[in-house]
Amino acid sequence: AVLILLGPPGAGKGTQARMLEERFGLIQLSTGDLLRAAVAAGTPAGLAAKTVMEAGGLVSDEIVLAILQDRMAEPDVTAGVILDGFPRTAGQAAALDALLAASGQKVTAAVSLDVDDEAMIARVAGRFTCAACGEGYHDSFKQPAVSGCCDKCGGVAFKRRADDTAETARARLEAYHAQTAPLIAHYRGMGVLRSVDAMDGIDTVAGALGSIVEDVT
Ligand code: AP5
Ligand code: ZN
Repeated sequence: AVLILLGPPGAGKGTQARMLEERFGLIQLSTGDLLRAAVAAGTPAGLAAKTVMEAGGLVSDEIVLAILQDRMAEPDVTAGVILDGFPRTAGQAAALDALLAASGQKVTAAVSLDVDDEAMIARVAGRFTCAACGEGYHDSFKQPAVSGCCDKCGGVAFKRRADDTAETARARLEAYHAQTAPLIAHYRGMGVLRSVDAMDGIDTVAGALGSIVEDVT
């Protein structure tokens, strides 16, 4: 199965992809995470991506497709994937369709996570993650059960993303409306579009998504 999570920054793509990964044994493939890893490793792609990401713009299709294809070629991916933050442009969507067609596959479902713009800014601005395992938290919506200690791994170090300021979040939102939201029509046209009200709580959204996954796989 190839599932796409579509939605603006802060919609909960990463949060939900990780929950689906645990529940259904699918692999989360986040181009944002792959790009941040490339930036941290200082690869040529990472160096090119860094300034664009810090400004809240979109990294070039060329770089994104190269890192995604490398990841898709790894053996664990055969079980099925949840694409988190990809595709984000018409060019990426076309490239994905072609890549899948080459192995007789197609997109199983593209789920749009619908959230309003101001809620998204609040979610992004309060976010932090466990430095050891990457589990996501939020100052207001999802604190660790034991303060300062990761629920998943017990880690005690947390980090915040460089692009999680309110100002950069607005730029990311603009990029979403201009370049990514039009993909909703692309997937509707293919007959694979589903949508979920992502203004609900994390567990309610997870329940709705779980039903969709059970329905399409
Ligand atoms: P990326 O890492 O993909 O960031 P994004 O799309 O901006 O999405 P976020 O990770 O900010 O949000 P999310 O939807 O995953 O929400 P989360 O679950 O964390 O991309 C970063 C950058 O990389 C881009 O700006 C671009 O430069 C580049 N890039 C990446 N992919 C690219 C591509 N394909 N092409 C070009 N460039 C690309 O949730 C947010 C917070 O809210 C969390 O704290 C969470 O706990 C909380 N929360 C989640 N759900 C709920 C809920 N239902 N109720 C209350 N709180 C909630
Ligand atoms: Zn952890």
